[in-house]
Amino acid sequence: MNQPSASAVVERVDARNRYEILVEGERAGLTAYRDRGEQRVFFHTEIDDAFAGQGLASRLVEEALTDVRESGKRIVPVCPYVAKFLTRHEEFADLVDPVTPDVLRWLETRLG
Ligand SMILES: CC(C)(COP(=O)(O)OP(=O)(O)OC[C@H]1O[C@@H](n2cnc3c(N)ncnc32)[C@H](O)[C@@H]1OP(=O)(O)O)[C@@H](O)C(=O)NCCC(=O)NCCS
Repeated sequence: MNQPSASAVVERVDARNRYEILVEGERAGLTAYRDRGEQRVFFHTEIDDAFAGQGLASRLVEEALTDVRESGKRIVPVCPYVAKFLTRHEEFADLVDPVTPDVLRWLETRLG
């Protein structure tokens, strides 16, 4: 059975401020962030059309958030996909900070 989610690998790419998910060495998608002090602000997640609907976004975000926990940081879910993921994964609730107008203004200046 074809289960890309099971064989996928998630990597943090510090130089690009994102986590990428690779399927058989090919990049299938990413979740992008900026760091604001101890907060890791997630603002965009995308999976390439060719890989959509196979649970890859879920796998990617789960590993990214686990890495945030291991790094001792906090999560700010500006990205709607990450926000939706968090409503179904209460195990990360203790790490989540709210999306405030301050964070959104800060993010806008960082993203230009
Ligand atoms: C959203 C996206 C990342 C999902 O990738 P995927 O690997 O197909 O997702 P999964 O198979 O892991 O999960 C599918 C879930 O994503 C949800 N979803 C799809 N589009 C969404 C969106 N724009 N915002 C929030 N959730 C979304 C679906 O409702 C589905 O939820 P369910 O499992 O409760 O039914 C992908 O469709 C994509 O790249 N879309 C274009 C960019 C985008 O809209 N990104 C989200 C906002 S930054």
